[in-house]
Amino acid sequence: MQNIELVEVREGKAKILIPKAERIYDSPVFYNPIMAFNRDLSVLALRVLKPKTALDSLSATGVRGIRYALESDVDEVWLNDINPLAFELIIKNLELNFGKIKVNEKLAKFENEKTLIATNKDANLLMDEKFRYFEFVDLDPFGSPMPFLDSALRSVKRHGSLGITATDTGPLCGAYPNACIRKYNAYPVRGELCHESGLRILIGAIAKYIAKYDLGFDVLLAYYKDHYFRVFLKVKDGAKKGDETLSNVGYLYFDNKTGKFEVEKSIFPDKRENMKIFGPMWLGPLKAQEFIENLYNKAQKVELAQKRKVLEFLEMIKNELDLPFFYDVHGIARRYRLQVRKLSTIIEILQDKGYKASRTHISPTAIKSDAPFDVFLETLKELQ
Ligand SMILES: C[S@@+](CC[C@H](N)C(=O)[O-])C[C@H]1O[C@@H](n2cnc3c(N)ncnc32)[C@H](O)[C@@H]1O
Repeated sequence: MQNIELVEVREGKAKILIPKAERIYDSPVFYNPIMAFNRDLSVLALRVLKPKTALDSLSATGVRGIRYALESDVDEVWLNDINPLAFELIIKNLELNFGKIKVNEKLAKFENEKTLIATNKDANLLMDEKFRYFEFVDLDPFGSPMPFLDSALRSVKRHGSLGITATDTGPLCGAYPNACIRKYNAYPVRGELCHESGLRILIGAIAKYIAKYDLGFDVLLAYYKDHYFRVFLKVKDGAKKGDETLSNVGYLYFDNKTGKFEVEKSIFPDKRENMKIFGPMWLGPLKAQEFIENLYNKAQKVELAQKRKVLEFLEMIKNELDLPFFYDVHGIARRYRLQVRKLSTIIEILQDKGYKASRTHISPTAIKSDAPFDVFLETLKELQ
């Protein structure tokens, strides 16, 4: 740390020293202020889930774990990073927020009201050592979480929860299909459905990994924002839960000429006329409504780094229909040479026709609806 100039920033209730750098990726220890939103939601998730023990496995400056300790009821937080400079900075930041801390070569411990432990290990090694120990495990890597997923699934308690970030939208959203096959064992979509399918491929891969331990999960919240995916999962114990979780995995069938899509939960894909097959991917829910309401209620009451944005986002998620995929109004209008009309007008007409319809946080030009494709297309045509 000696030759590195540090500046202090505030995020939520935490004071954090970060290296001074022109661009975030030039910094010797990573800190991305845009991800304050991700950390805000994660703090809220911990306030709702109330874990006693939490692991910030890829901690960088320590901001996430420190916020968990300051802004939730968690008793014990572990903050880990393989980078020795990050470890040094985590200790500095712990001391800045909590006072003097006992330091060994690779472990720093603060025990007062809360136990805070910093380690300088490979995250996989640490998670393997702490088998079924944490009630909440956070994976927030550069790129794909897959290299750390299996250890995280062993380190979390059988009734615990997970927060998993993926920033590798290139592979997941079809820019690099081979990378998606390598990492997620799934074929990705390119085009208008790519972000939702990326999110669903990520969850589908987690489902396959967790089931072998006779575990399953409920999706508490899964979202796409600012070029990353984030998933909160509640682990469910038992082979039956594993089966139930896997039964939500299947395939997306998409006809790029018409814009029509179909989904089906199944182990194997089938052939459908004029349609390309994508997946396997998760086709179950992307939220648990009660969890979202709880996040929203907590968000109203507490200090957050990006409170207004968080409330707007949760409001949107609360009102979003939880169905696989959507109709992209611009994409469909382009294919059929139609004028684009206001989303609110289209939604109202679909609702008048007796269908459910809503906006989606995934795309500002899309509508989720249980109306069949032909009804949706007809509705766009009626509006010309
Ligand atoms: C995206 S940053 C984490 C950001 C942090 N969670 C936050 O919210 O600010 C990823 C971190 O993972 C660390 N890392 C990479 N590979 C690792 C490994 N095998 N074990 C532990 N840490 C690792 C990097 O040093 C880096 O600090």
